[in-house]
Amino acid sequence: MTMRRIGVLTSGGDAPGMNAAIRAATLVGRSQGADVVGIERGYRGLLEDSMSTLLPGDVAGILREGGTILGSARAKEFHHREARDRARTVLAKRGIDSLMVIGGNGSLTGALRLADPEELRGQTLAIAGVPASIDNDLALTALSIGVDTAMNTIVEACDKIADTATAHDRTFIIEVMGRDCGFLAMTSAIAVGADLALFPEAGKPEAAIVEQIVDTVIAVRDRAHRQRRGRRVIIIKAEGVPIPVDRLKDLVDARLAEKVADSGPSGIETRVTVLGHVVRGGRPSAFDRLLGSRLANVAVRALLEGVSHKMAAWMAPAELPASIATLSAADPYCSLVDLHTVLSETENPLQGKTALAHWRAGAFEEIEDALLL
Ligand code: F6P
Repeated sequence: MTMRRIGVLTSGGDAPGMNAAIRAATLVGRSQGADVVGIERGYRGLLEDSMSTLLPGDVAGILREGGTILGSARAKEFHHREARDRARTVLAKRGIDSLMVIGGNGSLTGALRLADPEELRGQTLAIAGVPASIDNDLALTALSIGVDTAMNTIVEACDKIADTATAHDRTFIIEVMGRDCGFLAMTSAIAVGADLALFPEAGKPEAAIVEQIVDTVIAVRDRAHRQRRGRRVIIIKAEGVPIPVDRLKDLVDARLAEKVADSGPSGIETRVTVLGHVVRGGRPSAFDRLLGSRLANVAVRALLEGVSHKMAAWMAPAELPASIATLSAADPYCSLVDLHTVLSETENPLQGKTALAHWRAGAFEEIEDALLL
C-alpha cells in the first residue's frame, strides 16, 4: 500500500495557534502512517512548489510561537483557473492526495476550488479545512483559531489604556481588527467593561454613531458628577464600522463642543488608538494551543479516513442536520461540517443577516441603555 501524503498549508491572515495545528497535523498524521508535507507561504508556496516533509523535530518547539512557521500569503492569482491547474500539477507530482488548509474563509474557498471535481478531471484530492482567523467570521464553528489570543491581547491593551484614560479623565476610541465582523469588538468590550461597543452588524449610520458616542460621554460625565466617579470613557470600535477613527474623533469633538456647555472647546478630551496588527501577534493562549491541536487532529483523521470537503469545527452538532454535520469520533467537542455550507453560511453573518448576528446585536442594544444610567 502506498503511503498517504498530506499537504498542510496556512493561508490568509495568520492567527495565533496556527502552529499548534501544524504540530498536531504532523504528529497525528505520522502516528497514522502518513507523510505530512508543509507547504510554505500558503497557496503561493504551492504554486512555486515550495514544500518539504515535516518531521517531529521540525514542530517540537513551535506550539508557543505566534504566527505560522510555514508562512502565509494572500495569493490573488489563485482566483484564476490556470493557477489552480498549476497547483494541482504540483500536488500530483509530489504525490500529495490530501490537503489540509488552515485559514479563514478566503483560504477555505481556495481549497474548495482546488478540489472542484470538474476541475480535478479524475485527479484524487481530498481536502479538509481548519478554521483559523482572529475575525471569528466563519460560520458553523463557535470559535476559530486565534480569536481567544486576539481577545486577550485587546483586553490587555484596553486595560492599559484605561489606566491612562482614568488618570486624565479622557475618552478613548480604540479600534480593533475583525474585518467586516464585530465579534472581537463585542466580546472584548464585554471583557473590558467598555462603555460602548461599535460594530458593523448594528448597521448604524454615521450620524447615529456620533450621537451614540456623545450620549455615552455625557452620561458618564453626569454619573461621575452624581457619584463622584471618574469620567473616563472606553469605546471599542470594530474596524468594520466604516468611519475612519480620525474622522470619528473630529465629528465627536465637534458635537461635544455643541452639546456640552462647559466645553472649552468641550473640556472633554478624546483620543484614538488603533491596535491594528498588534491584535494578530503574540504567543497563543493556552486555549488557542488546545483548539489548534484538537481541530487539526480531527481534520487529519478525517482525511486519513477518506472523508473530504469538511471543516473541523468547534461545535457539537446537536442542532445541525446530519447532512451538514457529523460528530467527530476523534473528539466529542468537535464536528465535521460541510465546507460548502460553511462558506455559504459565512456570507450571512458577514452581512449581519443570521439569527446569531441579530442576537448579538440585540443583546448589545439591550444593555446600551442600562449602561447610560
Ligand atoms: O483577516 C484577518 C485580518 O487581520 C483582519 O482582521 C484585517 O482586516 C486583515 O486581516 C488585515 O489584513 P492584512 O494583514 O493583509 O493587512
